[in-house]
Amino acid sequence: MTHSLFLNILFFPLIIIIITTVTLPSPAESGSGQWQLLQKNIGIVGMHMQLLHNDRVVIFDRTDFGLSNLSLPNGRCRINPQEQVVKTDCTAHSLEYDVVSNSFRPLFVQTNVWCSSGSVSPDGKLIQTGGFNDGDRTVRIFNPCSSCDWQEFNASLAARRWYSTNHNLPDGRQIIIGGRRQFNYEFYPKKESTAKNTYSLPFLVQTNDAGAENNLYPFVFLNVDGNLFIFANNRAILFDYNSNNVVKTYPVIPGGDPRSYPSTGSAVLLPLSNLQKYPSVEAEVMICGGAPRGSFQKTLNGTFIGALNTCARIKITDPNPNWVIETMPGGRVMSDMLLLPNGNVLLINGAAMGSAGWESGRNPVLNPFLYKPNERVGSRFQLQKPSGIPRMYHSTAVLVRDGRVLVGGSNPHIDYKFNNNVLFPTELRLEAFSPSYLEAGLDDVRPKMVFPAPQSQTKLKYGQKLKVRFQVKATLVRNSVSVTMIAPPFNTHSFSMNQRLLVLEMKLQNNTVGESTYEIEVTTPGSAILAPPAYYLLFVVHQEVPSQGVWVQLV
Ligand SMILES: *[C@@H]1O[C@H](CO)[C@@H](O)[C@H](O)[C@H]1NC(C)=O
Ligand SMILES: *[C@@H]1O[C@H](CO)[C@@H](O)[C@H](O)[C@H]1NC(C)=O
Ligand SMILES: *[C@@H]1O[C@H](CO)[C@@H](O)[C@H](O)[C@H]1NC(C)=O
Ligand SMILES: *[C@@H]1O[C@H](CO)[C@@H](O)[C@H](O)[C@H]1NC(C)=O
Repeated sequence: MTHSLFLNILFFPLIIIIITTVTLPSPAESGSGQWQLLQKNIGIVGMHMQLLHNDRVVIFDRTDFGLSNLSLPNGRCRINPQEQVVKTDCTAHSLEYDVVSNSFRPLFVQTNVWCSSGSVSPDGKLIQTGGFNDGDRTVRIFNPCSSCDWQEFNASLAARRWYSTNHNLPDGRQIIIGGRRQFNYEFYPKKESTAKNTYSLPFLVQTNDAGAENNLYPFVFLNVDGNLFIFANNRAILFDYNSNNVVKTYPVIPGGDPRSYPSTGSAVLLPLSNLQKYPSVEAEVMICGGAPRGSFQKTLNGTFIGALNTCARIKITDPNPNWVIETMPGGRVMSDMLLLPNGNVLLINGAAMGSAGWESGRNPVLNPFLYKPNERVGSRFQLQKPSGIPRMYHSTAVLVRDGRVLVGGSNPHIDYKFNNNVLFPTELRLEAFSPSYLEAGLDDVRPKMVFPAPQSQTKLKYGQKLKVRFQVKATLVRNSVSVTMIAPPFNTHSFSMNQRLLVLEMKLQNNTVGESTYEIEVTTPGSAILAPPAYYLLFVVHQEVPSQGVWVQLV
């Protein structure tokens, strides 16, 4: 029996009963990467997470799980007659986690943020939208500062937004798409004259499975032609949000099984490179995992179907695009797909059976998979070391500046269930996964950014030339250096909204400027269509090992 199962025997007696009846595949202990327990109890569920440019992560769950395990400070309480579970609640449902000091402080959210969505504005504020009940049309703004708290604006959305997806636009606004029983979209902020408008999106009607939906939290990416790639259920469109026009209809993913909520797979826009070719840059999307059609309904009867073990890649800029299917080392549902600074993709969290939804997942997948998009087919996936903590429904993962991945949440129950007498108790532990590029053995290869200076938060213009200076102790492998830029996404329900990685155009020249010190000239993206205005993390990557990120602001 493996070490982590042994721990389960000690601490989670009930899970053992399940193991003997459901046959959990024992996680492979080998594989690379390391896990670290950061906090034993943050008091709330990490259902939604966003990293901000002060290296703090805003985390929140919902206001109607019951009383959380984190008190609001100064005797504050939320007294809300509209609340469904507790009308006087002196506990927090949101917090700010400080990555650098590994500490957190409670935040005070007034309205229900359950299954909501968000984006970071160009000036670095978290704009969070919708939720449930009294919060379903609320816009909440979190200004990053060490004493700031949520500001809420009720009735600011034109429609209720629950399970919607947000995306930043080149003009600095965000679009908010869909949500439960909402077959439309709207913008935030609104232009005065169209303030009340929602715009219809029939694609969300067409992809709405009776009784299961399978089109919630659609996967949305800004394509390099300025249109939006919108995926729901088992297919996608290219959409001109200005003219409300479907520009292209992509084929159904082979096999036809659904990939969006509650058949929750995940998706990434693969790294965008060769940016100097804009507007002829190629863009590729990859969608992994999900649950076969009917899975969610079957869970209601106690039957848990194996999750999908396939990924589908498509070049969304091709005139005649087609999905190319690849097989993962195992099936996954409710997993997150994160872009790492070196352009690889990490699949993490989730389960091997069932679907998203209350009590609907089984067989946690404890091993992340690393996916290398440029390796040859068949050698792209690498199994990573397992965590000891199941991360089921309502779990999250975000990349932080030092290259680690923060992992939190998991609560498949309709309320908080902190005790171990249930399957998958409400999970309050916060962990970090360190990909193998953080191993100490690679310290000599690892670049250290000198300029832009780590604390400078340098403002960059579009198409600007920038001298990036860095140090490497080992001999520099010149053809193995790249500079990447990542927009930190809003993560919830296995999708990272606004996640985007750009490989910057750079000039290879004699770049030795001193002992172990090098300088390369890069060019920032030439258009806000390639990279909407925002704070980004800038990395130098050498032999697949990234430096720590440095915050820059693209304006
Ligand atoms: C959190 O849980 C611990 C352990 O059960 C308990 O001692 C503590 O009082 C709880 N705190 C709050 C605010 O609920
Ligand atoms: C917003 O709605 C909540 C819940 O109904 C209420 O408690 C709060 O006072 C409202 N805020 C404003 C500014 O109207
Ligand atoms: C669930 O069970 C009921 C009663 O046995 C049955 O009528 C129904 O078809 C089942 N649903 C599914 C999705 O299997
Ligand atoms: C590269 O530049 C450094 C510093 O300016 C100089 O010392 C070195 O000779 C140059 N190397 C080549 C190959 O030009």
